[in-house]
Amino acid sequence: MSARPTDARPDVRRSPLTIGVIGAGTMGTGIARLFFDAGHRIRLFDQEEGRVAAWLGSLATADRLADGGRQISDSPSLTAAADGADLIVEAVAEDPAVKSLVLKVLSTHAADTCIIASNTSSIPIDVLALDCLRPQRFLGVHFFNPADAIPGVEVIPGEATSGDVVSQVMELLVDAGKRPAIVRSSPGFIANRLQMALFLECLRCVDEGLVTPEALDTVVSTTFGFRLPIFGPFAIADMAGLDIYQGILETLEGKYGERFATPAAIRDRVSRGDFGLKTGKGFRTYDSRERSDLPAVRDTMYVRLRDALGKLDAYRLLAHSEGANP
Ligand code: NAI
Repeated sequence: MSARPTDARPDVRRSPLTIGVIGAGTMGTGIARLFFDAGHRIRLFDQEEGRVAAWLGSLATADRLADGGRQISDSPSLTAAADGADLIVEAVAEDPAVKSLVLKVLSTHAADTCIIASNTSSIPIDVLALDCLRPQRFLGVHFFNPADAIPGVEVIPGEATSGDVVSQVMELLVDAGKRPAIVRSSPGFIANRLQMALFLECLRCVDEGLVTPEALDTVVSTTFGFRLPIFGPFAIADMAGLDIYQGILETLEGKYGERFATPAAIRDRVSRGDFGLKTGKGFRTYDSRERSDLPAVRDTMYVRLRDALGKLDAYRLLAHSEGANP
C-alpha cells in the first residue's frame, strides 16, 4: 500500500504487506498472530519494555523465523512501527487520552497511503478520527478475543473514511480468513451492545432467584445459543414464526412491562400475515424451494453441530484431566 497512490486498492495477493500492531496485550498479540498467519510482515510495538520479546519467546521457534518476508519483529519505537507500514492497527489501552496520543504520533509518521485502524471496543470512531491527519484513511476494526481465532470482525467507518479504504480492509480481512461485517459507529457498536443487553437480562433472572448462574449458562448455550453459530436472530425469528414471537412478547410484557412490548417491526408483519418462513415472508422473503428445503437442511446442520459439540465436550474433559494440550 505504501507505494500506491492514495486510493489504490491493495493487492492482498501481493503478500506480505507490512502491518504495524501497537500494543502487545491480549488483543495486539492475537492480531499480530492473525496477520502473520495470513502471510504478512508484522511490526509489533509495546511501550512496556520486554513485553513483545517475552511474547515472541513464548511462540514456537518456527513462528519467529523470517520466512520469505514473513516475520513478527519487535519494533523499537512507535515511529519505527509506523514508518513505511501499509496498515497499522492500534490495540493500546481503552483510554481516549492514550489512544489520542498514539494516533497523533502514528498519523504523523505513517505514509500518506497507510491505513490506520483502531481496535477500540467502545470509543466512537469520529472522536478518535479527530487525532488523525488523514481521517479518510482511518477506521475502526474491532476484533474479538482471541483475535486470531474468532471469525467475526466489526469494520466501522467514520464519517470521513473513504469507501475504498473500507473495501481494502474488508478484502484484507477476508483474505486472512475472517468474516467481517460493516457497522456504523455508535457506543459499543453492535456486538457488545447485544452482548451486554443479554447479560443484563441474565443478571435479572439470577437476581430474581429463577436460576443459578451455572444453570443459566446451560440454558443459553444449549438452547437458543446452540443455534447462533449457524443462524442470526432475524433468521431464527423468521423460522420460529413472528406470530409466535408476538405471543411470547405479549406474555412477557404482561409480567415485565413496557420493555417487552411488541415492536411495530413485528406487529406490522404479523398483521399483514407475514409470519416468516411458514408464509414465505417475514424479515426476509423465501421462495417455494427454500420453504420446503430449509427446515430439513437446518435440522441436519443442527444434528451435525450437536455431534461436533459432543466431540469438543470430550476434548474439554480430556484437557481437564491431562492439562491444557492433550
Ligand atoms: P491489554 O491491557 O491486554 O493490552 C494493552 C497493551 O497496550 C499493553 O501491553 C500496554 O503495555 C500497551 N500500551 C499501552 N499504552 C501504550 C502506548 N502508548 N504505546 C504502546 N503500547 C501501549 O489490553 P487489550 O485487552 O489487548 O485491549 C486493547 C484494546 O483492544 C482496547 O482498546 C480494548 O478495548 C480493545 N479490545 C479488547 C478486547 C478484549 O477482549 N480484551 C476485545 C476487543 C477489543
